[in-house]
Parts: sequence; C-alpha cells; structure tokens
Amino acid sequence: MRKGSIAALLGLALIAGGVATAVALVPTWLPEDASQQAGRIAFTFWFVIAICIFIFAIVAAVLVYAVLKFRVREDDFEDGPPVHGHTGLEITWTIIPFILVTSIAIVSAIVLSRNDAQAKDTLRIDVKAQQFSFTFSYPDAKNVTSPVLMLPKGRSVELYMRSLDVIHSVFVPEFSVKEDIVPGLVTQLHVTPTRLGTFPLECTELCGLGHSLMRSQAVVMEPAAFDSWLHKQEKGAAPAPPSSTTSTSTTTTSSTTPISPAQAGLMVFNQNGCSACHTLSAANATGKVGPDLDNLVSYARTAKQPLESFVHHSIVDPDAYIQPGYSKGVMPTNFGQVLTKEQLDHLVTFLVQSAQKSGNK
Ligand code: CUA
Repeated sequence: MRKGSIAALLGLALIAGGVATAVALVPTWLPEDASQQAGRIAFTFWFVIAICIFIFAIVAAVLVYAVLKFRVREDDFEDGPPVHGHTGLEITWTIIPFILVTSIAIVSAIVLSRNDAQAKDTLRIDVKAQQFSFTFSYPDAKNVTSPVLMLPKGRSVELYMRSLDVIHSVFVPEFSVKEDIVPGLVTQLHVTPTRLGTFPLECTELCGLGHSLMRSQAVVMEPAAFDSWLHKQEKGAAPAPPSSTTSTSTTTTSSTTPISPAQAGLMVFNQNGCSACHTLSAANATGKVGPDLDNLVSYARTAKQPLESFVHHSIVDPDAYIQPGYSKGVMPTNFGQVLTKEQLDHLVTFLVQSAQKSGNK
C-alpha cells in the first residue's frame, strides 16, 4: 500500500471518529446520576460507545476510501481482479472484535454483580403495580403504604415487585435501573440512591390505555428525614388517638364500630404519604414541599372555587391550579387512580372539615 493511501485512510478515519465523538459527547444523552448503580452503568455505556466509535471510524474510512478510489471508469467493462481472501486480515478482524466483545462481557458482568449486591442493612420495599398506578409499602414499618417511592439517601434498597394484572416495568432514569413486573412472579430491583431530590418514576411497559399516565415519583430524603417520615406514617397507620368517642381499628374491614368519613379520610391521608409534603394540624403533618393545607379555605377563595370542589380537583388534577409560590409537577398526578372513589370522598371530607376548623381559629 502506498504512503498516500495510508494517509488518506487515516484522515478519513479521524474525520469519521471526530464526528461520531461529537455526536456522542455534545448532547446530554443521560440524566445526571442519582444512584451508585447509575455511575457504573454510565461507565459501561461509555466503554461500549468508545469501542463503537473506534470500529465506526475504521469501517467508515475504508468504505469512503473504496467508493472514491475504486470507482469504475466510464468505459471499463472488465471483471474485477479475482481476490481469494487475505489470511492476515481475516485473523486480525477476528481477534480484535473477539477481544473487544469479551471485554464488554467482562465489564458488564462485574457491573451487574456489583449493582445487585445488597448491603447488610438493605431496606425492603414492596411494590404493587396495577393498571395504572404503583403502590409502595414498607414491611419493616407496619406495611405503611405510599403512592410515592420514598427513599433514604445512601442506603441500599431492594424493591420486591408484584403485578396484579399485566406486565408493567419500573424505571427511574436518574437511577439508571429498570425492571419488569410480571404477574405471578416477584421481581427484584436493587438501588442505592446518592442524590437528594424528586425524580420521575415511570412505567416503561405498554400496559393498556392508561400506560402513559402510569407515573409516580421517587423522593430521596436524608436518612433522618426518611426515618421521621416513616415513623409518622406508622403512627398514622395505628389506631386514631382516643380523642374521639368512637374507638377505631386499623383496618376498615374488621371494624365493628363504624368510623366517620372524616376519620376514614385521615387514614387515607396518612397511608398515602400526604404528610411528607403538606402541613395539616389535624393530621399532625408538617411537610413543607406543597401548600399548607390548614389554609385551604383562603386558597379556594384565591382560586375562586367552592371549597369542596377545589379540594377534590386539586387532588385529582393537581396541576390544573397551582397556588402562587408553589411549583407545577411536584404533586403526583395519579391519586385519582390510586384512591378508590370512596377513599377520595373521605379524604375530601376530612380536608374540608379540618380546613374549616383551622380557618375559623
Ligand atoms: Cu404499567 Cu405501562
């Protein structure tokens, strides 16, 4: 091969490699990492991409060079020269890909086993998926349930996932981990969150008409804040304080003494993690993320809506009206599906009653 040809090939390879590298690096393809697993997966991803760019540069250079250099001339009707392979080349293009593919397999195997390795104090969370919502429960804390995945930062967490109907899949892009939830199986997903914040959690398996609405959130909190949230939920799941005349039991099914709609609403409030984000004195809730529910009366006035329908609307379609000072897209939008109609009615009754009480103070 002449020196000129080698220089031309090399130049083409550099151009192709440069363009591919720019496409890979300039747009932000991946979200910012928020878990230990995400960092390792990103490493694997870039390791594979680097190999791909290398191969692409060689193939593109040879292709473009061959098209330009060996173009048939207008009056040339001859057959091409009879070439019968090239042992040296064939050995090279077998050994190099073999090494590359094997190295990808080794890196992936190491990352997979590290990502699945649970720590000693792994927190167990049960996940229930159904068309079209997720419910998360904490078996070590009296099975407290929440429609939002609450997680302590820095702790290894294992999700045990069941589906009540069809195949779903759980994915938090910032965590980089994803797992299907298959009816009849308990699938597992391990994650160690490393960054505080609220991240979208979505279903990534087409599961029916409401698939695109099957979304929730993963909220990563400081471990102390998480513990206090969990304790508060545990208390909420326990019998209501004996301030009322009727004694209540934890489960609505086995209670012989009927509880009032407002009391049932308090249970719905506690079991669905509302207090993590809202302040409400009637529920001893002190969350600061969302609007202060003791002020619902004045909020409804600002929104120019009757109190009861305002509360109902704000639960089912939280982004329709945003109280000034708070942001859109923070409150989960799936309560309309997670709660039964009865639970929703009870919750609205409870919120309206307690808001009127605190409004009159
Ligand atoms: Cu569940 Cu898509």
